[in-house]
Parts: sequence; structure tokens; C-alpha cells
Amino acid sequence: MTVLPAMEPSTVERSALRRHFLMCRPEHFAVTYAINPWMDPAAGADAGRAVAQWEALRDAYLALGHEVSLIDPIEGLPDMVFAANGALVVGGRVYGAKFTHPERHAEGPAYAAWMRENGFSEVLEPQHTNEGEGDFLTLDHVILAGTGFRTHLAAHQEAQEFLGRPVVTLRLVDPRFYHLDTALFPLGGGNVAYYPGAFSPGSRAVLERLFPEAILAAEEDAAVLGLNAVCDGRNVVVNAEATGLIAALRSHGYEPVPVDLSELRKAGGGPKCCTLELRA
Ligand code: ARG
Repeated sequence: MTVLPAMEPSTVERSALRRHFLMCRPEHFAVTYAINPWMDPAAGADAGRAVAQWEALRDAYLALGHEVSLIDPIEGLPDMVFAANGALVVGGRVYGAKFTHPERHAEGPAYAAWMRENGFSEVLEPQHTNEGEGDFLTLDHVILAGTGFRTHLAAHQEAQEFLGRPVVTLRLVDPRFYHLDTALFPLGGGNVAYYPGAFSPGSRAVLERLFPEAILAAEEDAAVLGLNAVCDGRNVVVNAEATGLIAALRSHGYEPVPVDLSELRKAGGGPKCCTLELRA
């Protein structure tokens, strides 16, 4: 194998594409149950603080020129703020979510209803358990799909058939990174950033083959949910604590937009979890 010289800091001009996001204000946010290792009901969480941090996230998207639509929060669904889990929308087609845990079951139909009421006519109620964009990340030519903790393998096939896009399965192995979007994010232009330790050996090999130029994150950045980021092709909205990743992004020509979502992290969520992309 030939060893290639280390890459120089990028002088590439990255360009942003305007996105349309769906978000849910965390008015009823709380940590009252534990369905991932980040959640501690005894420690609780502060909904007021969560709302303030969430508003700063929404404002960051608006300042970048993106469009943000809102779904009404429902009392008794404290995790509904994590809109990414509500569906997967590609080419105007909506592959609905079917949540793993009973605590979140009602969110699937709530998001599907919003889609129908807002002009999406092709909405599939899935047969198989899947948590929307938490486990499905869309690139130009392929959709990456996580399994191991939440989304079932059969849902990967169901999504591929419904959306007509190739779906590549990736196996998650670390319970801290229970959704694919906690361990990997698309950078635009067909590249990704990820934390290798979250994946099985075979899935790591798949990622190396598909993305030889990927930005690899260290565990300390993954451990503050730094990979739960949103990139528009140029700007990367990312947890501020992920300082190593932020430096790496900058050296690759991306523009980091740091945000503080520490209150929402008490439920195991970050910027991407709060953000569902509506792809026309
Ligand atoms: N408490 C939520 C759960 O465990 C957090 C979901 C985070 N969402 C995400 N897209 N990773 O289901």
C-alpha cells in the first residue's frame, strides 16, 4: 500500500445549499424515563433552559438562510423535540417512523399527520421499526442506515424500496451512539465525518471504502455528541464542546457554527436530533 502525504489545510471554497427543516419547540421537554445511557430521570432536565438553547439553534439556521417549519409539541411526549426521529423525507416522499420504545410510539403518527397536512401526499406508514433520520442519513447517491439499537434491518429494505435510493446498512455497537446520527454526519459533496469506534469492524471497513476522505472524529468529540451535527455543504452547526472536531472541520474548509445544546444532551440529543430535513 502506498502512503500518501498528509493533506494540507484546505483552501477549498465550500458552498452551502438552502435547506428546509422541521423542528419542534421543547415546551414539554423532560427526562422522565431512560431509553439510552445519556438519560437519568433522577437528574432531570430544565425545559426552560432547553427552550432557550433550542431557540438559539433555530435562530442559527435562520441566520444561515435556511427555512424552518414547526410542528406543535404534544404534552406527555418529552422527546418530541427530537424531530429527526419523526420521519425520513427524500424526494418529497415520506417514510414514516415506527418507534422502538412505547414511550415514543405516539410520535410516529403525529409527525406523519403533520406531513399530510403540509402538502406531502406520499406518506408511508412503515411495517418495520425505524427512527427516521436518527438512523437514516441521506447523501447524494446513497442513504446510510444504522441498526443495532433502534432501527431494524428490515426497515432499511423497506425504505430503499419506497424511496428508490440505495440504502447501505451500518452496524452500531456502542450504546452511547444508539442512533447513526450520533456517530456520523454527511458533509455534502458525498463525504462524511464519523467516529469509527461506534461501528462494527465490517461497517468500519465499508465506511473506509465509501469515504476514503472522511473526517474521523476522536472519542472525546463523539462523547459530547459532536457528530450529531448538521452541514449544509459549507456551514456545520455543531455542539460547541466538540473542539477537536471543530478545528478539523475548519482545516477542511468548512465553517463551524458552534451551539450549546447541553440541556438537550441530558436526553441524548444534539443539533441534528432536533432537526428533520424536508427534501423536496
Ligand atoms: N431521548 C431520545 C431517545 O433516546 C433522544 C433521541 C435523539 N435523537 C436522535 N436523532 N439521535 O430516543
